[in-house]
Amino acid sequence: MSDAVTIRSLLAKEAAEQIGALSDVLIDCVEGGASVSFMLPMTKDKADTFWMGVADGVAAGERILLVAEADGGIVGTVQVVLKQPENQPHRADVSKMLVHRKARKRGVGAALMRAAEDAAARAGKTVLVLDTVTGSDGERLYTRLGWQRVGVIPNYALWPQGGLCDTTYFHKRITAA
Ligand SMILES: CC(C)(COP(=O)(O)OP(=O)(O)OC[C@H]1O[C@@H](n2cnc3c(N)ncnc32)[C@H](O)[C@@H]1OP(=O)(O)O)[C@@H](O)C(=O)NCCC(=O)NCCS
Repeated sequence: MSDAVTIRSLLAKEAAEQIGALSDVLIDCVEGGASVSFMLPMTKDKADTFWMGVADGVAAGERILLVAEADGGIVGTVQVVLKQPENQPHRADVSKMLVHRKARKRGVGAALMRAAEDAAARAGKTVLVLDTVTGSDGERLYTRLGWQRVGVIPNYALWPQGGLCDTTYFHKRITAA
């Protein structure tokens, strides 16, 4: 993979067109052991159905979908979930941060998170929340980028192959742009 990585948000039409590429990233992450909502076997059907729902959410203005592209293809993605209860209009969730194993450890995850925070700020958000597997690569990434650790929920989810894992909740205050 080349060093040149571009981060951009996808419009709903583009999101629908890129479902195959987005599914490839999701499947690679789950098959690599990431606990991100799915169990093995991770099928293309499950992945495509997930991304179709995301594309609908983008079309509805409920979420922002960011992708990292290198060599003309998608190698990573993250979402900002804008739609929240009416008493939390200032809050967003950061969700499904995924980087293909072939593109890891060269700053793609950090670039995606910075872009997600900027996009959330432009949408007027001031409080961001996320959770990730305790002790994971994601936990180190978010700590490094200034996210505040809230605490751990034991036995929160399953690993893709089975077995319980803990999750750590994080928040970050940002300034609306
Ligand atoms: C968590 C995840 C998104 C991180 O993506 P990434 O692109 O590898 O992230 P970065 O490259 O920014 O940082 C990862 C590491 O590479 C290092 N790194 C960054 N640029 C580097 C470079 N140019 N050369 C060497 N190392 C580098 C970072 O310091 C960091 O080190 P650490 O793991 O020891 O803390 C990725 O591991 C992933 O997709 N995991 C599976 C899915 C998942 O669990 N997602 C989180 C759900 S909340």
